[in-house]
Amino acid sequence: MRRFSAEYLRRTREGMWADSRAALANLDLDSRSRILDVGCGTGELSRVLADESDADVVCVDADRDLLRVAREETGLPIVAGDATGLPFADDTFDLVICQALLVNLPDPTAAVEEFARVSSDLVAAVEPDNADVSVDSTVSEEVTLERRVREAYLAGVETDVALGETVGETFRDCGLADVRSRRYDHEKVVDAPYDEADLQDAARKASGAGLADHETELRRALSTETYDELRRAWRAMGRDVVAQIQEEEYRRVEVVPFDVTVGRVSSTSVE
Ligand SMILES: C[S@@+](CC[C@H](N)C(=O)[O-])C[C@H]1O[C@@H](n2cnc3c(N)ncnc32)[C@H](O)[C@@H]1O
Repeated sequence: MRRFSAEYLRRTREGMWADSRAALANLDLDSRSRILDVGCGTGELSRVLADESDADVVCVDADRDLLRVAREETGLPIVAGDATGLPFADDTFDLVICQALLVNLPDPTAAVEEFARVSSDLVAAVEPDNADVSVDSTVSEEVTLERRVREAYLAGVETDVALGETVGETFRDCGLADVRSRRYDHEKVVDAPYDEADLQDAARKASGAGLADHETELRRALSTETYDELRRAWRAMGRDVVAQIQEEEYRRVEVVPFDVTVGRVSSTSVE
């Protein structure tokens, strides 16, 4: 299982649902009473679900360290468990949802089938299309290098990290009905005045630490020589970012598309 640091999740989710909650409309949050957030990480989505509904929200993750952070930061109940074998009886929740979980699983279908088992009504997934990310930057080399890194990462990663809109097919294959999808573009802008997280991100570029987050996948796709050359170019680019930040000239815009897919558990009873 790929592990994520609490810091990485905070940084990448910052502001994610702050003013774009319309994309969650198909979840009918007003009428939910028990919600399960699977692969909750630090609980970034769980908090939104609790804010937007009167439901009891339960957080599940396979990583106990992240779960502890989720409990501290959201105050919601946590349960350790695997997405493909959830420790709940059939029909325990009326919405079972995940965010950026299926892209990390070797068998996303097995997880969706399990979601449908423990849900009496809706199943939902908020999944990124990592092949369709766009980056614009005042450091032009950053745009080129991010594209190179993304292509190598997509070639080296062992799960389908560009699931995006194909989640709908998986839902239908699992017998879910009334499947609907809404795309939500998560735009992250770095611009002056910079905050502490922006300065840390720039320092991580200059030191190569940001690239090292994905070293395993990159090394799978690249020769040692190419990886080392990429790392040198990446760090030089990071130094340019730091220099532009010092002059308050740096601006970067990244757009990560997420698809919010919702399906209904079909009733098998015959009237
Ligand atoms: C990219 S993170 C997303 C976290 C959170 N949903 C968010 O969007 O901020 C993926 C999460 O799925 C968890 N995870 C990975 N495989 C899992 C599995 N088989 N069962 C439960 N959780 C899993 C990881 O520990 C991690 O917290």
